[in-house]
Amino acid sequence: MKILAIETSCDETSAAVIENKKILSSKISSQTVHSKFGGVVPELASRNHLRLIDLMVNEALEEAECILNDIDAFAVTYGPGLVGALLVGLNYIKGIAVSTGKPFIGINHIEGHIFSNFLEHPELEAPFLALVVSGGHTQLVIVKKLFDYKIIGQTRDDAVGEAFDKVAKLLGLGYPGGPVIDKLSKEGDGKKIKFPRPSFKKDAGFEFSYSGLKTAVLNYIKNNTATYKDEINDICASFQEAAISVLVSNSIEAARTYSLKNIVVAGGVAANTLLRYKLSDNAKKYNIKTYFPAMDFCMDNAAMIAAVAYEKLKRKMYSSLSLKAYPYLPITDDYSIESGEGSL
Ligand code: KG4
Ligand code: ZN
Repeated sequence: MKILAIETSCDETSAAVIENKKILSSKISSQTVHSKFGGVVPELASRNHLRLIDLMVNEALEEAECILNDIDAFAVTYGPGLVGALLVGLNYIKGIAVSTGKPFIGINHIEGHIFSNFLEHPELEAPFLALVVSGGHTQLVIVKKLFDYKIIGQTRDDAVGEAFDKVAKLLGLGYPGGPVIDKLSKEGDGKKIKFPRPSFKKDAGFEFSYSGLKTAVLNYIKNNTATYKDEINDICASFQEAAISVLVSNSIEAARTYSLKNIVVAGGVAANTLLRYKLSDNAKKYNIKTYFPAMDFCMDNAAMIAAVAYEKLKRKMYSSLSLKAYPYLPITDDYSIESGEGSL
């Protein structure tokens, strides 16, 4: 079974072809236009998806050595994400599905991030705890079995990736902030500045908060205007230390509370060097195994969307042409089979 998937929910335009579980091609174009704005500009993202999607699909087909008619089914992200960006991909796939007469299926972007781990670790099996860490999400999700999710904790305000991006903007480091802060932190002292690590009462569940940490960095810069530029590496390392340690402690405590022996990390922040090291190292002490996607599949990509589609198509879970885009689609909801009340 060959599947062509596309992903256009934010600022990566991506297409991939898989045959059963094997990736035949994966093409990702990261839009650089947003860098100077310090964040993604939705209108520019949509326009660039429109410009790039055909190119990505053609390159993916070429690398997979097939033509459109060889594809058995199509897949696309239908939420969560920027609505204009989602619509470019959704309408493109609907067009292809109609013209070829083949089925298509809408996929949840966050589910895709979790499934990127199956591409790297085919032996992985539910149940497990998923730590979802991206530009829009910071969530702990119990994956009871495939397509059966329970959210047991999330951020009260900013997502962790968003905090990396906002701190990078404060320091004049451009967008996206995660990779550059990760890199500069390697040259800095993470213990130098004591930034806050919010903790909530245990009965509140496994919650996160990142807006206070971001404000603490802002205040540090304001209080040290003359000197902070000489300490950029230490500021990055100290911020990263605070941001990551909360992810690690909450994930391990949640896994122990629910007696889960596997923690699976998903989303762009899964690429973070300190998170990869600290979580694996600490989890080992409790006999908990950790899984991370391959570095190339931490960021938004269409191969992870194809990986979910493979499991859905096996179960004949097709979408109808009336499927809408859902900018705030939670992982616990699935409107891809019967088209529900979308926002458009
Ligand atoms: O999953 P993703 O590509 O897009 C969303 O679905 O949001 O995640 C993007 C986020 C950005 O906030 C980016 O700064 C962050 O992931 N990120 C990182 C790293 N690489 C990307 N954060 C920390 N360390 C990294 N190495
Ligand atoms: Zn993402």
